[in-house]
Amino acid sequence: MELQKTVDTSDDWIVERTGIRERRVAAKGQATSDLAAAAAKSLLHKRGISAAEIDLIIVGTVTPDMFFPSTACLVQMKIGAKNAWGFDLSGACSGFIYALATGAQFIASGAHKKVLVIGADVMTSIIDFEDRATCVLFGDGAGAVLLEPAESGEVGIMDFLLRSDGSGGQYLYMPAGGSLNPPSVETVQRKMHYVHQDGKNVFKYAVRGMADISHEILVKNDVPSKDIKLYIPHQANLRIIKAAVDRMKLEDSQVAVNIDRFANTTAGTIPICLSEAIENKKIQKGDKVLMASFGAGWTWGSLLLRWEA
Ligand code: ACO
Repeated sequence: MELQKTVDTSDDWIVERTGIRERRVAAKGQATSDLAAAAAKSLLHKRGISAAEIDLIIVGTVTPDMFFPSTACLVQMKIGAKNAWGFDLSGACSGFIYALATGAQFIASGAHKKVLVIGADVMTSIIDFEDRATCVLFGDGAGAVLLEPAESGEVGIMDFLLRSDGSGGQYLYMPAGGSLNPPSVETVQRKMHYVHQDGKNVFKYAVRGMADISHEILVKNDVPSKDIKLYIPHQANLRIIKAAVDRMKLEDSQVAVNIDRFANTTAGTIPICLSEAIENKKIQKGDKVLMASFGAGWTWGSLLLRWEA
């Protein structure tokens, strides 16, 4: 266990308190747009369409390659989506759900036919590997989905609930690098370009927020939890996931969990889980899938859909 060499921690502590056993770390020089572009290319290949058909690219991320150009522009170039426009969306751990709900509006309005929504983060680029309270939690990863108009009302996004509460910003943030604390020798020396977190408070709010918003969307849509084929929660901590699962009284077989292998990849967790579920044939056409997240901001949300393919 590599982390034991740099900080005072143990494999047992990490597994017991978080559920994390492994993580993926981007290679030196590999940025968020590289991971995002790889996920997008793989998706386009599976779907059998060319990048030129994409109308819009939305990248949910808190670790853009740089402030500008946007990661979406870099992905557009890397995959050759020459007819698309795009933008980044900063929603932290809720970045993917925020981006999915946003992208869906361009389909629903008829403005676009193919919207690529990507959740991608290289969290190891903003983690202090001398801080045991944060470095054990995160990993790097990306996932992508393609939104298209549904051919029948039997599939597609049924509903979403999106929330934010800026009073939570004090508990999980990266203090420097932006206009408040522009980069300086002092900000670097004070480690202000890393994730700062009050883990206990994040845990407390996340447990309640994710469980509540998952439950609320089911009640609002009159969907009993037994009808959920797959619940895909943001993967921050297995104990946060279990609290939401208990609240909804779901069976383990209804829940997507891969935090043990990927850790918390922030905007990447939900689309990576979704991709694994598709590969493992856990969801079929018409199945109800529920996604939920909670993260920095605070930001949180849930999204209910009937799977298309
Ligand atoms: N290894 C060993 N000991 C540790 C480690 C570590 N990596 N980290 C903290 N400890 C110690 C603490 O110092 C403390 O020691 P003390 O009792 O001597 O003071 C002890 O373990 C217990 O610490 P707690 O903070 O009470 O441990 P807790 O059970 O709350 O777990 C954790 C900490 C895992 C960070 C938890 O609070 C958590 O998961 N919070 C949510 C954080 C999160 O998910 N952030 C991601 C972004 S937000 C999101 O995605 C929802």
